Amino acid sequence: MRTTLSVIKADIGSLAGHHIAPPQLLDVAKQELTRAKKEGLIEDFYVTNCGDDLELIMTHTKGEGNQEIHTLAWETFRKAADVAKELGLYGAGQDLLSDAFSGNLRGMGPGFAEIEFEERPAEPVVVFMADKTEPGAFNLPIFRIFADPFNTAGLVIAPTLHRGFTFEILDVMEGKVVELDTPEEMYDLLALIGTPGRYVIRRVYTREEPRDVAAALSTTRLNLIAGKYVGKDDPVAIVRAQSKFPALGEILEPFAFPHLVAGWMRGSHHGPLMPVSEKDAKPSRFDGPPRVIALGFNIKNAKLIGPSDLFADVAFERARALANEIADYLRRHGPFMPHRLGAEEMEYTTLPQVLEKLKDRFRTVEGA
Ligand code: F6R
Ligand code: MG
Ligand code: MG
Repeated sequence: MRTTLSVIKADIGSLAGHHIAPPQLLDVAKQELTRAKKEGLIEDFYVTNCGDDLELIMTHTKGEGNQEIHTLAWETFRKAADVAKELGLYGAGQDLLSDAFSGNLRGMGPGFAEIEFEERPAEPVVVFMADKTEPGAFNLPIFRIFADPFNTAGLVIAPTLHRGFTFEILDVMEGKVVELDTPEEMYDLLALIGTPGRYVIRRVYTREEPRDVAAALSTTRLNLIAGKYVGKDDPVAIVRAQSKFPALGEILEPFAFPHLVAGWMRGSHHGPLMPVSEKDAKPSRFDGPPRVIALGFNIKNAKLIGPSDLFADVAFERARALANEIADYLRRHGPFMPHRLGAEEMEYTTLPQVLEKLKDRFRTVEGA
């Protein structure tokens, strides 16, 4: 049976600033998706939020990029945006970039990751959702899950994983993709994805035949598609687990290291990516630090069994404590790089105005 898992998200308004999508918005989404399930358009769903992003996790049998499913998500976000406006929530409707929706969400504002697959007898998946960061934030952990033998023991000792994986990388500036095989092309891969603002992991495939999708990530860059700043494009990702894919614990392990990502306050700062439970996905310190949640499901006959809130585990307390320490350390840099992003990555800047104001006061000096 071929099942599709679609994870579609948008920031369509939040409580008390860019903080959380409140229960009233989750209720609208639950209502709409309950109706769609009754009508047979989707098989199952789960609704949550990661910070100010409303997250729709849906199963169906219509394939990836399906017009009816994308329209359902769009209409759900539109209805939630109406409620957000009624309630006077902050940034109501901010990720719905166009009034002219034509059936596909690409370039419209919401982010999405989708995988269509033949269900295995047991089909475990992990859905990652992040806030106050960008799609490239997943480059490091996804690399470690599928290509780092110091993270994923299975790459070395499990015959099903030993051939490695193929990564599809998107150049977000050029809109081009390239596929690289690991382990052979690992250094080329790292040469690209070490620049996460430009080269973003979009999909991962098994190399073991038959080739199968192992992971899918949202790769929209809101700031690029909108032509103006409308907020960072907080990413989602789906990773399939166990057997010919990495084990659940190999998939979660990279998040025990709260690596630095771009985002945080005004989408213009580096900060540690803090793995948290659903209830702690409410960034409030300096609008952060950036958060990631992970929900584990099993999919059976296109129904969602679960979730388990995977970072609600004492084993991730050290990562959170370290993230808080890193946050303290970085914050003491105030407006200085490398806490503040480089000029080309910042989503807010006054630099052109400052340079314009000072242009007659800059003097040429000899020998400089
Ligand atoms: C970052 C983010 C927030 C806002 C900040 C200012 O992705 O969403 O940090 O950038 O709260 O928001 P405005 O300009 O809407 O007041
Ligand atoms: Mg927001
Ligand atoms: Mg957000």
